[in-house]
Amino acid sequence: MHTIIEKINTIKKQKNAVILAHCYQPIEIDNVADYVGDSLYLSQVAAKTQADIIVFAGVYFMAQTAKLLSPDKKVLLPQLEAGCRMSDMLSLKQLKDFKAKYPSYPVVCYVNSTAEVKAECDICCTSSNAEKIVKSLGVGKVLFVPDTYLGKWVEHKLGNIDVITYPGFCPTHLQIRPIDIENARKKYPQALVLAHPECHMSVSKIADFVGSTAQIIKYVKESKQKSFVIATEQGVVDRLKRDFPNKEIIPIKSNIVCPNMKMTSLEDILHVLTTEENEIIVNKEIAKKAVNCLDAMLEVSK
Ligand code: 13P
Ligand code: SF4
Repeated sequence: MHTIIEKINTIKKQKNAVILAHCYQPIEIDNVADYVGDSLYLSQVAAKTQADIIVFAGVYFMAQTAKLLSPDKKVLLPQLEAGCRMSDMLSLKQLKDFKAKYPSYPVVCYVNSTAEVKAECDICCTSSNAEKIVKSLGVGKVLFVPDTYLGKWVEHKLGNIDVITYPGFCPTHLQIRPIDIENARKKYPQALVLAHPECHMSVSKIADFVGSTAQIIKYVKESKQKSFVIATEQGVVDRLKRDFPNKEIIPIKSNIVCPNMKMTSLEDILHVLTTEENEIIVNKEIAKKAVNCLDAMLEVSK
């Protein structure tokens, strides 16, 4: 393992490359990553980096987002088949049909979507800024795609804005059910339950805290409590256990894993860094429109 890490770090320096890793990636990827975090943080890093090459250890829409924000950089995805099942649920045609049903409302687009979809939406959001973004529009009704649960969670939190959602969802987070929270509370009455807003609303509503991956990690770090039940992907559980050995970190259940996030290996990273294969290319016309949607988000999230 050491040799591969050393090789990656050497080529990274030679090529002025940077490695960005989402916190659902296999934990060994952190050994070579320059930045590890949630979708918002990584898109902010991608927008500002001075590197010539960005290797995105994550899924396709994340690397594509990095390319949209840094069009002059070479963006490489270690595994091209690593898609997002939620993003796959919304094609351009489905978006157009959805918008046609509700003309005249602004469309907020979760970053877990294709560039084609982003190009036809007004503003992007991630799970850490969705409330702020919807509120920033200053209207009473918005369309929200593709994650129905994040959209409905935002509606619930804001209270005075109708959020009409497209019926997309994350199959990984939907494996978590209210009964799992109830069982965890019985077994670990001392623990706080922290959930990701991609979970079903019935789960989010009974959690003690709902936030993005980075917000969950920050919560554990700053809380005086010692025990936490984690209702999101295993990568967050693994990192919390590594970083907070004196706290009790309990996964809500076993096998809450995003198979696409787990496709990346150190070997894949070494391979793309060496060969510069798997470059992300976005059609220029689509990119021009999609980047507006992302820039609008980054402006509000500054
Ligand atoms: P965050 O990184 O915003 O928490 O989102 C999680 C996710 O599903 C990434 O696909
Ligand atoms: Fe997509 Fe869900 Fe995997 Fe995130 S966890 S990349 S939303 S399938």
